[in-house]
Order: sequence, then C-alpha cells, then structure tokens
Amino acid sequence: MSSLQGDTAFITGAASGFGLALAKELVSKGARVIMVDINDCSGVTSELNTKAGEIVAIAKKVDTTSWEAQLAAYEAGKEAFGRVDYFFANAGIAEHPWLPTFNVSTATERPITKPNTRTLDVNLTGQLYTAALALQVFERQGLNRHGFRGKLVMTASVYSFFPSIVMPMYAASKAAVVHFMRTAASMYAGKDVTVNCIAPSIFGELVFAERDLGPIELVVEQFLSLLGDNKDTGRAIVISGTEVWDQPKDTYKYELCKSAIDTVESTLAELFRVNVIYNRKTVCFNITFEASGVGVH
Ligand SMILES: NC(=O)c1ccc[n+]([C@@H]2O[C@H](COP(=O)([O-])OP(=O)(O)OC[C@H]3O[C@@H](n4cnc5c(N)ncnc54)[C@H](O)[C@@H]3O)[C@@H](O)[C@H]2O)c1
Repeated sequence: MSSLQGDTAFITGAASGFGLALAKELVSKGARVIMVDINDCSGVTSELNTKAGEIVAIAKKVDTTSWEAQLAAYEAGKEAFGRVDYFFANAGIAEHPWLPTFNVSTATERPITKPNTRTLDVNLTGQLYTAALALQVFERQGLNRHGFRGKLVMTASVYSFFPSIVMPMYAASKAAVVHFMRTAASMYAGKDVTVNCIAPSIFGELVFAERDLGPIELVVEQFLSLLGDNKDTGRAIVISGTEVWDQPKDTYKYELCKSAIDTVESTLAELFRVNVIYNRKTVCFNITFEASGVGVH
C-alpha cells in the first residue's frame, strides 16, 4: 500500500502546471484530491474518477482571493472525503503590470496612478487564506495515521530570495510567503502540524520552450517528499534545473536585533494571552506598534 493511500489533499491552482501534476500524482498514489482553481478542473476530475472507478477527485471553481469561496471548497471536500491531511497553497500568477513605464519625458503629462496589486492579492492574500484555513482545520481534526493533524505546503519561488527587476511585486509576494512559512512553522512546532515551502526556479513549457528548465516531476517529487510520515517543518526547498537544496535562513546581524525582537515577541505573547482571556468577557485591546515600542489602547 502506498504511504499516501487514502490521504486527502486540498490543492489550489490545480487546473494546470505544478498543481495539476501534483493532483494527478497524488491520485496515482491512492490519495484523494480537492482541485481548487479559478478555472474549471471538472474535466480532469471526471477522468480521474472514471479511471479509479470511484470518487477520488472533486473540482471547485474558486478565486483564492475569496476567503468564503476557499472555505466553501474545503467544506465540500470534507463532506466528500471526511478530512483533509494536506493543504497546498499553490495558486499564483506572474507580475501584472502595476506601474506605468518609467519615462521622464512624458511623466508630468500623466496622472499619478494607483498600482494594480492583483499579484499580491493572489500570491500572498490568497495563499494566506489557504494557510489560515489549513491551520484552523488542523486545530479541529485529530491525528491521522501518520501521526499528524495536517501538513501545509506553500509554493514560493527562487524570487523569494533574489530580487527581480521585471517582477518586483511577484518577488515581494514570494518573499513574504517564505517568511510567513518560517514563522508559522515556529508557531505550530510541537502541535503535530508541519509547514513548508517549495521554491522552484523557472519551470514551464511555453515561454521558455527552447531551454532545458528541469523536469516538472522533480518539483512534484519535492512536494511529495514532505507528506506522509515526514516530520520536517520550516523548510524552503529550492529546485533549479535538476538541483535541489534547502535555502538557509538569512541571519545576517540577527544577534544585534535579537534582544529587541525578543522583547516585542514576549510582550505581544503576553498581550495576546490577556486578549484571549478578556475576549470571553467581550473586552478587547487594540495593539499598535509605535517607534518607541508597543502600545495598548
Ligand atoms: N512555473 C514556474 O516557473 C514557477 C516558478 C516558481 C514559482 N512558481 C509558482 O508555482 C505556482 C504554480 O504555478 P505554475 O507554474 O504551475 O503556473 P500555472 O499558471 O500553470 O498554474 C497556476 C494555476 O493557478 C490558477 N490561479 C491563478 N490565479 C488564481 C486565483 N486567484 N484563484 C484560483 N486559482 C488561480 C491558474 O488558473 C492556474 O491553473 C504559483 O504560485 C507560481 O507562482 C512557478
């Protein structure tokens, strides 16, 4: 029996690319999948179900920037399969042009325009919605046969670590995903939950067809390596061509900032605990960060 037999995965961005390949691979290993995408996945789920002779995949047409739509997709998945062991926050888009081209000769004739933040909305807010969904689901369900409440895997990018002149908002969104993942892995340590990232370099057939960009199967293999009994958490696994490595944390000058960070962390930890207790009495604090420290109002 495959180690993933009977496990269930919620995959965003499942209509194409990594998400689609991952969904198919999971089903081939006996897992069930909730395929979530802004585009329709029902053709694929029909094929998978026909081949399996039972319902192993369901399709949910969802824009991941809608919390309500992601929640509804999870609820449909839970009804079909009972629980969700893995959440893949994978849906993402490349840069949408968000600022007009830099041109000093015409600049003063043009109005200053509001930026288009769709890249951030999908790549960061959408993935944080998936993460928030996963972590609350894990809190509510017991251990599976692997000994976990559940596992969250987010799709970052090499641009999480390296700047991009042509995709600054994309790079910002992907850097944020890795930083969130590392923080969440610490927050959920010891809670039978793992949180990791896959950070691919450039993979794809259309734009870069003339170059050998590495097999997509290698990316899928890395997703799968984090599932089942694997206890790893807080990893950012980079895949570039046929190379795979763990990207280390940037700890440059960390020691200099550590005491300030520790003070803020411990103060807020205390405040959040107080907040929880007082919330029961419907008393709530607003916490604000000021240059001089942390203020409570
Ligand atoms: N392909 C690469 O080279 C590469 C490299 C690094 C990271 N990534 C990341 O990998 C992830 C998957 O990308 P891919 O390469 O498979 O691309 P892809 O375009 O083949 O797949 C992305 C899927 O996400 C879906 N999607 C987009 N916006 C959505 C939304 N708002 N709600 C729901 N679904 C939405 C699309 O319909 C599509 O099916 C993305 O997060 C991407 O940023 C890709």
